[in-house]
Amino acid sequence: MRVISLTGGKGGVGKTTLAVNLATAYAKEKKKVLLFDADLSLASVDLMLGLHPKKNINDYVGGLCDLNDICVTGPYGMRIIPAASGVQHLAELSLSQSAHIIRGFSDLTEDVDVMIVDMAPGISNQVINFTHAAQDVLLVICNDPASLMDSYAVIKILKQKYNRNRFGIVVNKVKNYQESYSVFSKFQTAISQFIDVNLQLLGHVPQDDYIAISSREGHSIIQQFPLATASLAITELAHNISHWQADAPVVGGIHFFFERFLSGLNGNKEQLCRV
Ligand SMILES: Nc1ncnc2c1ncn2[C@@H]1O[C@H](COP(=O)(O)OP(=O)(O)OP(=O)(O)O)[C@@H](O)[C@H]1O
Ligand SMILES: [Mg+2]
Repeated sequence: MRVISLTGGKGGVGKTTLAVNLATAYAKEKKKVLLFDADLSLASVDLMLGLHPKKNINDYVGGLCDLNDICVTGPYGMRIIPAASGVQHLAELSLSQSAHIIRGFSDLTEDVDVMIVDMAPGISNQVINFTHAAQDVLLVICNDPASLMDSYAVIKILKQKYNRNRFGIVVNKVKNYQESYSVFSKFQTAISQFIDVNLQLLGHVPQDDYIAISSREGHSIIQQFPLATASLAITELAHNISHWQADAPVVGGIHFFFERFLSGLNGNKEQLCRV
């Protein structure tokens, strides 16, 4: 079981689009997929997939149900943990509330091969702690200085705070491979001057109008337009991610999501023992 978080710092770079479509690509390959909308207070995964969940993460945080109870089923049988819409306190959770959410994943009853975590924008402690809980961190970047600066900040914080040094990079909304490679090279050069980390370009996704069309209609592009340029690129990206993961094998199940979260907290562990 692998947990992949999609982050990037900047808003609007395509984290949710790629999380939803990578989840669809893996589910289509018959993997057991769990997609977690970790933009907890501003749900978008369920909207993108045209789902109308009756319960969401706010019910779980409020102690009204288990995570199993809020899970909904999406394309090709993938399961989704939906976020809430406009519930501000979910964007400012205490450490113990974050731990309560992450620990809840250990109690999920069905097997999972791959879990994808769609992060909120920004570099709040909540975003950084949830990102760190995943074994594999994917940064979504665009050909835009603000996107590169924000992703630089995410890498810097994860390196300083948790000594994370392995990041997958996806360049989104580009014209072609050449553009993505040039954006990646620029980013890598800038980072390598200040931080010692390993960055791997895992793929690029072209700017493709079919993404907006499918999402407006409540579908993933992979499902609705499987032969669109972006669908083919995301399918290739999914394969590249799997190969990249094979270079850093891990043993263990979903409870490692929680263990990794705890491992980074050091001084705050006593507080969490009371969760
Ligand atoms: N490759 C692409 N081609 C065309 N449009 C895209 C592409 N990727 C994403 N978009 C569009 O960009 C917009 C932002 O995408 P998305 O919501 O996935 O970004 P995000 O990073 O999750 O944003 P936020 O930080 O607000 O959560 C959406 O309108 C989406 O349809
Ligand atoms: Mg999003």
